[in-house]
Amino acid sequence: MNKPKIAIILGSDSDLPTMEGCFKVLRDFAVPFELKVLSAHRSPALVHAFAKSAAKRGIKAIIAGAGGAAHLAGVVASLTRLPVIGVPMETKSLRGIDSLLSTVQMPSGVPVATMAIGKAGAKNAAIFALQILGLTEPKTAKKLEAFKKRLSAEVAAKNKKFK
Ligand code: RP5
Repeated sequence: MNKPKIAIILGSDSDLPTMEGCFKVLRDFAVPFELKVLSAHRSPALVHAFAKSAAKRGIKAIIAGAGGAAHLAGVVASLTRLPVIGVPMETKSLRGIDSLLSTVQMPSGVPVATMAIGKAGAKNAAIFALQILGLTEPKTAKKLEAFKKRLSAEVAAKNKKFK
């Protein structure tokens, strides 16, 4: 089996449905990834062990999805040199504004690349991780260029309907 290049960690299995688009993009690009449920608050020792071992295991970027007091991405970023991409989950009480602010408002020195709230952010996290891989992997860079062309062609096709 191929070694995972991207790690996806989620604060809870209740975050899984939001992340479907993220998994799909990585599968479409045939990039191996690992998936774990790890909670900054409920299982801090596991989060620590994961973050400390990720680079050594060949992981190139970490996608962390969490909701509410969403500290998972930030805590992991504090423990690894790898780029960490945060996906704020939409929440019932505050519609994900809580998750967004908890993820994005990092202190200077410890960045988290924070995506949009919810499904758009989940998909973009995968694309952003692929863009990181694409810096050193020509095959991935080529696939990203084709992806961009498809996006543009889809918009052009929508406009044809108005003629
Ligand atoms: C966060 O709390 C998780 O990332 C999830 O978005 C939220 C609720 O978790 P559960 O109570 O559904 O496990 O840590």
